[in-house]
Amino acid sequence: MIVVFGSLNMDLVMAVPALPRPGETVLCPSYRVLPGGKGNNQAVAAARAGGAVRLFGRVGPDGFGEALRGNLVANGIADGDLRTAEAPTGCAAITVDPHGENAIAVASGANLEVRATDVPDTVLIPGGHLVTQMEVPAEENWAVLRRAKAAGMHTVLNLAPAPIPTPALTAALRETVDILVVNELEAAALACGLDEDPASVDAATLCCRLTDALRVVCVMTLGGRGVLACDGDRLWSVGTLPVTVVDTTGAGDTFTGALVAALDAGEPLPLALSWAATAAALACCGHGAQDSMPHASQIRTFQANMPPVSKLPVE
Ligand code: RIB
Repeated sequence: MIVVFGSLNMDLVMAVPALPRPGETVLCPSYRVLPGGKGNNQAVAAARAGGAVRLFGRVGPDGFGEALRGNLVANGIADGDLRTAEAPTGCAAITVDPHGENAIAVASGANLEVRATDVPDTVLIPGGHLVTQMEVPAEENWAVLRRAKAAGMHTVLNLAPAPIPTPALTAALRETVDILVVNELEAAALACGLDEDPASVDAATLCCRLTDALRVVCVMTLGGRGVLACDGDRLWSVGTLPVTVVDTTGAGDTFTGALVAALDAGEPLPLALSWAATAAALACCGHGAQDSMPHASQIRTFQANMPPVSKLPVE
């Protein structure tokens, strides 16, 4: 079983000719209102990739909240584990440029009311996976991760958006996380907190150093350049599918959700990485975070075109 603890947002998505710079206003003809939020996206990605998923989070007492509940149910995830907050549902303003790059601002709203106590002990089952991200209060993350680990679950943290690195963050990661999923920016932020200069080492070295320093399996996504993962003894490199990128929003969430679905199904890490990288590439082929998230049958079909996973020397 996969337990996702995290955020739900309604995304207001605008396809703009160029991402606005500070002080600039950019016009576009229209916008779409689409389900999002990193917790919500990862739960839906894991369910579509074949996982049995429960999602614990909060939405507001409003139309966005109702719509997000309906979307979950449409994706085979019961909405009974969601609580209704006093604050309005979280909302993200997303601009996407013609190359598929985005800039996102999130009003957290109900996500700030999410509490570790929303998750009952009965769902923390040995051998299962608990997944969380950084759009709910960090101390609630550490509390639920600590309980999940004590219960014998595998704990997964997608460190997005990257928090400011502090010694307390390092200590919490060491204590509570088994698998850490980061992109290059998040990895660089963490490295600075560990007194590493991320600019002076290549991605593979950085991935191994984070594994070592944080005592985790570090999975580092590199966008169009693939994925690296280090477990301390082994370093894997995974390529990507050549796709025409329309929108990268939610690609990291799709990766994390699909990765956990494969691991929860008992797949070994290299195969799970290839499965997740395939899913993430497919997720970039359409607009919005969830519209183009693939189902297991699509991932299986396209995974056949993935380059083989290679093993590199641990740095
Ligand atoms: O990772 C993409 C997500 O980030 C969007 O759906 C948006 O809601 C923000 O949380």
